[in-house]
Amino acid sequence: MKILVIHGPNLQLLGKRQPSIYGHADLASINRDLKRRAAARRAALTIVQSNHEGEIVERIGAAKDRYDAILINPAAYTHTSVAIRDAIEAAGVPAVEVHLSNIYAREPFRHQSLIAPVCRGQVCGFGAASYRLGLEAALALGKH
Ligand code: DQA
Repeated sequence: MKILVIHGPNLQLLGKRQPSIYGHADLASINRDLKRRAAARRAALTIVQSNHEGEIVERIGAAKDRYDAILINPAAYTHTSVAIRDAIEAAGVPAVEVHLSNIYAREPFRHQSLIAPVCRGQVCGFGAASYRLGLEAALALGKH
């Protein structure tokens, strides 16, 4: 099984950025953990981080027929990007949305995800564990 992992804008700052909200783990350690867990399940991960909406759209478009699932933290684009939403819908690759923080317990502008309706499901609020749980969900999609 091949899974494309996409980290959206500002997630390269994890560990340094508002640790009380996003935790102390940096992106490299989250990625190492995901790769180790995926390898143990015989799944291959491609991991990208981008601060650019268009690049994320292109990565999702290129995933069609190449990946079995997408694990995505769209970060701030969660709340704004019709383009990323449309890309996921058009690619037809099953997607799992993850967030470190519980977006529903934060500012009202974070309560809406434009991405969630085109994903198979969403995991949020568990810090770095959201990624682990999201990976588990993505692996389970392959068995449907
Ligand atoms: C986030 C939540 C978003 O609202 C925010 O813009 C982020 C990170 C999260 O993982 O909790 O950058 O996606």
